[in-house]
Amino acid sequence: MNNLHVIEHPLIKRDLTLLRTNTTSSEDFRIVLKRIASLMVFEVTRDLRLDTTRIQTPLEKTEGHLISDEVILVPVLRAGLGMLESYLAYIPNAKVGHIGMYRDETTLKPVDYYAKFPPNLSRSVVIVIDPMLATGGSASAAIAYLKEREARNIRLNCIVAAPEGVERVEKDHPEVKIYAAVLDRELNENGYILPGLGDAGDRIFGT
Ligand code: PRP
Ligand code: URA
Repeated sequence: MNNLHVIEHPLIKRDLTLLRTNTTSSEDFRIVLKRIASLMVFEVTRDLRLDTTRIQTPLEKTEGHLISDEVILVPVLRAGLGMLESYLAYIPNAKVGHIGMYRDETTLKPVDYYAKFPPNLSRSVVIVIDPMLATGGSASAAIAYLKEREARNIRLNCIVAAPEGVERVEKDHPEVKIYAAVLDRELNENGYILPGLGDAGDRIFGT
């Protein structure tokens, strides 16, 4: 689990509890997912590079900073959409690529149905966002897709990770750092994370 970084924070643990709780409504689930993603943005983007700029305060000239890295956010549809706004709040000029993928319920293999990316994947910091890393099939396929399109600097932000998913992504993409709010125990026979939070997409969208 060398590439896994679990972001530890009391507010994250509190929000994770709300996400896990089965009586949390879709409305609250969306609010809390957005909030927990906001808390994680700081750590996931900690190494973004800066340019310096001269600015004038009301009192004098001083040095300021601008983000020099181009950032491309890639939510994995559908559930990744629940985290997207949190990133855009802090990096409003980020570009957004979309990957549509769902897990076949019997094989648990990802089936892709949509992909659209901005240009410049090769010179951007690419952040794949998806709350759940279960078998790792979806994340690994999404990352492979991005690598085929020349993306080089890729990281993954999930909320709940299973050991199986972390191992899969580490094996397939050893250069990709994985940020999670928690590493859960295991997968059940249907590929759901235990203790987990259920089906993230269904809970976000009330399906
Ligand atoms: C969920 C989740 C991940 C995937 C994780 O999506 O958002 O994309 O499952 O599972 P894996 O690691 O075993 O591939 P789902 O297939 O339920 O689609 P949805 O977001 O449209 O509900
Ligand atoms: N996808 C989810 O939404 N939840 C899980 O527990 C596993 C995959």
